[in-house]
Amino acid sequence: MTCTSVLAIDGGDPVRTAPFPPRDLLSDEEKQAAVRAIGGTMSEVGYGGDEEIAYCDEFAQFMGGGYVDAVNSGTAALYVALKALQIEPFGEVIVSPITDPGGVMPVPLLNLIPVPADTLPRDFNTGPEQIEARLTKRTRAIVVAHIAGRPVDMYPIMEIARARGIPVVEDCAQSHGARYHGQLVGTIGDVGVFSTMAGKHHTTGGQGGIVFTRDEDLYWRVRRSSDRGKPIGLPQGATYATAALNLNLSDLGAAIGRVQLRKLPDIIGRRQAFAQALADACADLKAVKVQLSPPDCEGVFWFMTIEVDASRLTISKSRFVEAVAAEGIPVADRYVQAFSHFDWYINRDVFGARGLPWTAPQYTGDPDAVYDLPNCDAVDDCVFRLAMHERCGDEEVSDTVAALAKIEDAYAK
Ligand SMILES: Cc1ncc(COP(=O)(O)O)c(C=O)c1O
Repeated sequence: MTCTSVLAIDGGDPVRTAPFPPRDLLSDEEKQAAVRAIGGTMSEVGYGGDEEIAYCDEFAQFMGGGYVDAVNSGTAALYVALKALQIEPFGEVIVSPITDPGGVMPVPLLNLIPVPADTLPRDFNTGPEQIEARLTKRTRAIVVAHIAGRPVDMYPIMEIARARGIPVVEDCAQSHGARYHGQLVGTIGDVGVFSTMAGKHHTTGGQGGIVFTRDEDLYWRVRRSSDRGKPIGLPQGATYATAALNLNLSDLGAAIGRVQLRKLPDIIGRRQAFAQALADACADLKAVKVQLSPPDCEGVFWFMTIEVDASRLTISKSRFVEAVAAEGIPVADRYVQAFSHFDWYINRDVFGARGLPWTAPQYTGDPDAVYDLPNCDAVDDCVFRLAMHERCGDEEVSDTVAALAKIEDAYAK
């Protein structure tokens, strides 16, 4: 640590000069698995073969049993899950507001109306009250994203949904292996969707995704929905059953995913250890609070969320984050804006120029509805993110806390 009390943002030495360690997620094991997949008996690589079947089985075992379809992205997984749920077009789907674009775009692409629920106060996740406030007689599904690997409060959401017969999709793209009251996320709702793109807890290579369910009928509809409507799981003689895209994963990706899956428990454990160590090390800070898992949950920390109480500082939260970043710590002021701020949503730019699906006569809600998201709007005033992963350790913890303390000291009220 080469640190002076002069802040790096004012020209002093930063706490840390080296970047955080690289993730180096893929090793020789994955490379060998990829070579094996290519060099099988047919010397070619396909899809739906032994590797994919084994990957799906192994992921189902990881989830404690159930049915798995491997697809080619998390976005595709959500698209397939919603399609397989057979939600009539022009119904409303309540969605977590802060999510990856792929966590919401499948909704309008299926002619469904995305409705943003607010977040909890000072949190990227939505909550039961926020979802309940968005229910209408037009609500047909709920998509809940466990952002940053921190589980959403699922049981009350399931109660709300069950009371109305509405299916719940858990978006677990950022939360492989996270637990809510001991239960793995993705097993609580009707269907769980995962992204396995390169940066996720475990990956199938560049891109990939998973649809998980414990409902066998839904699973067969998922399979048909990800493979051009092939009559998979239907009686002999059935022909192409539904109009659908080809969203299959390849056996190459599955071969990589199988090796990764074996590493996942260790990856999760290391991320949890880092998160706990950072929270402990920051316990005496006055203006900064590391967000761990909500009560009775085990988060898996895709990134860390840190709260700042700007009322204890002479600077804004944004300036605080800028000063911490200048100390060599990979922090960012925000994760992503609520999707209701995106141009495609504001301009209703999904199909053609007439604002479909909102403007379809079958949609009986207000096509121009604007939703208040007070907690979500305020979250960027008090929460920021720290990029971390399973290779971050003691040094990264101590440098991060040193930088946070240095900036807090300098600007304490
Ligand atoms: C919450 C969430 N949903 C959906 C997606 C989309 O996944 P993909 O990038 O694999 O399409 C992501 C990707 O980061 C995500 O974080």
